[in-house]
Amino acid sequence: MAFKKKKILIGITGSIAAYKAAYLVRLFVIAGAEVKVIMTKSAADFIGPLTISTLSKNPVYIDFIKKDGTGQWNNHVELGLWADLMIIAPASANSMAKMAAGISDNLLIATYLSARCPVYFAPAMDKDMYQHPATGLSIKKLLSYNNRIIKPGTGELASGLFGEGRMAEPDDIFDFLKNELLQQKKLIGKTILISAGPTYEKIDPVRFIGNHSSGKMGFAIANQIANSGGKVILVAGPVSLKISDPNIKLISVESAEEMYRACIENFDYCDAAIMAAAVADYRPIKTSKKKIKKSDEVLHIELEPTKDILADLGKKKTKQIVIGFALETNNELENAQKKLKTKNADMIVLNSLNVKGAGFNTDTNKVWFVEPGKVRELELMPKSDVADEIVEKLGKMFS
Ligand code: CTP
Repeated sequence: MAFKKKKILIGITGSIAAYKAAYLVRLFVIAGAEVKVIMTKSAADFIGPLTISTLSKNPVYIDFIKKDGTGQWNNHVELGLWADLMIIAPASANSMAKMAAGISDNLLIATYLSARCPVYFAPAMDKDMYQHPATGLSIKKLLSYNNRIIKPGTGELASGLFGEGRMAEPDDIFDFLKNELLQQKKLIGKTILISAGPTYEKIDPVRFIGNHSSGKMGFAIANQIANSGGKVILVAGPVSLKISDPNIKLISVESAEEMYRACIENFDYCDAAIMAAAVADYRPIKTSKKKIKKSDEVLHIELEPTKDILADLGKKKTKQIVIGFALETNNELENAQKKLKTKNADMIVLNSLNVKGAGFNTDTNKVWFVEPGKVRELELMPKSDVADEIVEKLGKMFS
């Protein structure tokens, strides 16, 4: 079940439709969700907090300061971080305007501003209020914050007017959110091989040839795939990042050869491979068993090419989708298109070192999705958002 053990935070604002929120709370509780509710003071004029707290099996939050005489406060940050999903239903014109402008003069809006989870809102108001440009502007702003609207229906309104503004029915809101959650889990049943981080090629027991890759991009993709219901085999070079998700199996390697073996061994049972590692292209032909001592002579280290993991997976693939990365400094698109062909990949995610805020050891990245005959440029965004985009794209490629 989509909602089992999900933490749902419901915000109820002042509207006659507040009575419908009681039924919505009940639907989530029956579906196995943990439900907490925040009401505005005005919402409490429309529906009794006792009804809501009884149905949600939790205290209802209204004020910043608890009314139990302890002088303690209701922590909006904790509530915001607690939630897996927040739904404001009904969302009045007044509350939407405050959300849009960030006016946190009540617990609900302060919690909304603190929430990191997906936020949905179901407007409810009179026809003319809904059609007013001020309301349109609030909605536009909320959508630009990536909040999602559950649109009101058309029908008879509490005022007696007929038109748009009636809050979506609780059953429809419930179904809408259920679909959203199911869609987020679009990689259920899929296993994805990911390579991440740098490789270290030993020169002697204390020295190596390496690079600046932090592994952040590959780890962000792994986490996002696990969030989408997929399983991950993450083959990572030396990085300081940790994994806690049980759906990600981490195989730690050091050299390009070790990474190659781990990828080839696991590829056959995977549905896709995303090669985000910065694999060394060359390694010393000989590794000295002892530390090389300093001298005044010029030191020559002979290098030989490593195996190209992506290219070999491209040759080996049967049903799998294979995605590679390309880090370029010049002729970026041309080089990425070449790599698409030579490595027989389905897509290359192109990074350019010429873009400020992109590349190694940054938290942001700018990429292009390069596919045969198609290029899509994405804006500069946090690496976690790039990971979302890649996983979204992978979901589409599967379907
Ligand atoms: N790659 C790989 N094995 C290698 C080298 C690269 O799997 N031995 C993969 C990378 O993980 C990446 C893609 O190939 O997905 C392109 O890597 P990049 O370093 O941009 O290109 P190279 O093939 O190494 O070529 P060049 O360095 O000349 O641009």
